[in-house]
Amino acid sequence: MAELLIHGGNPLNGDLVIGGRKNSAVAVVPASILAAGTSTLENLPAIGDVSTYTEILARLGAKVDGPAGGVLQVDASNMRPEGAPMDMVKRIRASYYLLGALLGRFRYARVGLPGGCDIGQRPIDQHLKGFRALGAEVSIDHGEVVAQADALVGTHIYLDIASVGATINIMLAATLAEGTTVLENCAKEPHIVDVASFLNAMGARVVGAGTDTIKIRGVKELRPARHAIIPDEIEAATYAIAVAATRGDVTLVNVVPKHLDSVSAKLREAGIIVEENGDWIRIIAPERPRAITVKTLPYPGFPTDAMPPMMSLLSLASGTSVISEGVYESRFKHVDELQRMGTNIRVEGRSAVIEGVEQLNGAPVQATNLRAGASLVVAGLAAQGRTYLGGVEHVERGYEHLEEKLRSIGAKIERTPGEFDDRKDDEPRVVNLGQD
Ligand code: EPU
Repeated sequence: MAELLIHGGNPLNGDLVIGGRKNSAVAVVPASILAAGTSTLENLPAIGDVSTYTEILARLGAKVDGPAGGVLQVDASNMRPEGAPMDMVKRIRASYYLLGALLGRFRYARVGLPGGCDIGQRPIDQHLKGFRALGAEVSIDHGEVVAQADALVGTHIYLDIASVGATINIMLAATLAEGTTVLENCAKEPHIVDVASFLNAMGARVVGAGTDTIKIRGVKELRPARHAIIPDEIEAATYAIAVAATRGDVTLVNVVPKHLDSVSAKLREAGIIVEENGDWIRIIAPERPRAITVKTLPYPGFPTDAMPPMMSLLSLASGTSVISEGVYESRFKHVDELQRMGTNIRVEGRSAVIEGVEQLNGAPVQATNLRAGASLVVAGLAAQGRTYLGGVEHVERGYEHLEEKLRSIGAKIERTPGEFDDRKDDEPRVVNLGQD
């Protein structure tokens, strides 16, 4: 398997354009099948999860063209509500959105239980509760979720957890229900607003996205639409953190600075200079960061998806930092790999105590999930010497053109076939510790 070889210790400098948001793209792409006809999606990131999704849609009968240059056309005229290949469905978490979209359009969906990163238990009970409340019968049959309804009828649904996935999924199904659905205790992430904007462009009547309560007035049918995906704030946060860790100076272009407020605030607290205006933010990091405390929370709190890279940065801070994970039960699987690079981190339940060290050292490490991989890339860029990163496919699920983008701002990074590297025999050979 290919590895990334990172020659660390070079400050990142220059300008970098941020791509479309992964977690919005993987909801907008399935949302497009709610209407027969061809929708055009723009600013799609060139990532593994989007390719997997387009393959799944093609297997369900959609005609997909792209993504090329960030543009994807989906003609959902001849879709079927079942037949999504289990192996592809399990590759991505967001395959759960097929349930809401197919149920809305066909009143029937049969889709395998989703996969995704290995970051603790990730039930979809709230999604299923929402479908049932709308009138669907839902069962699990040989690892597949089967949802069917004679009619979907709008109702009042209170989510026990403000789940991003459940909020969007129920919204998808409810757009084509009879009457009004009131969804309470919703997640408020900006991509929920993005999906709602796309649905409204298709003729849906969704109000309140981005707040606790979303009202969806069902319509008889939706029409295809054109929509541009919002910028990826987690990609932006990851690069911002990498710039801070390498003590560089980079301007990130095509971002919504507001979506990055919680990350910018924490970087500033750590002594990093963050300037912002319009659609860019500039990160200037002349000095070693200071230790800080970070707690991950649903938006507008500090994003859990930016936590692993943040941990790599804080490993280099002066003093002791504490990170508490407030979204997932277990998202510290990257710590063992970071320790190979000389970090000093102690995990206690859902918190990690990070004693900052002056320097990290390159090592062979393995990404076992997407953001774990991002944390190792950040650590590798900041470390002295070479880091060999295996499990690159996990990182490519969510970061487009990673090497090219990093190289364009001065990183020394290359892809190696893996078996031709020059590690010494007594250096640890790393095996794949898990899967998405
Ligand atoms: N939860 C339940 N029941 C449910 C749904 C969620 O108990 O029915 C729990 C989960 O176990 C978790 C918490 O609620 O502890 C939050 O889960 P949520 O549903 O909000 O997350 P998700 O929809 O599974 C999306 C992103 C994640 C991101 C989270 C939080 C996608 C495909 N995934 O997951 O992205 O961490 O929201 O913002 O949109 C990533 O990009 O690396 C990633 C993991």
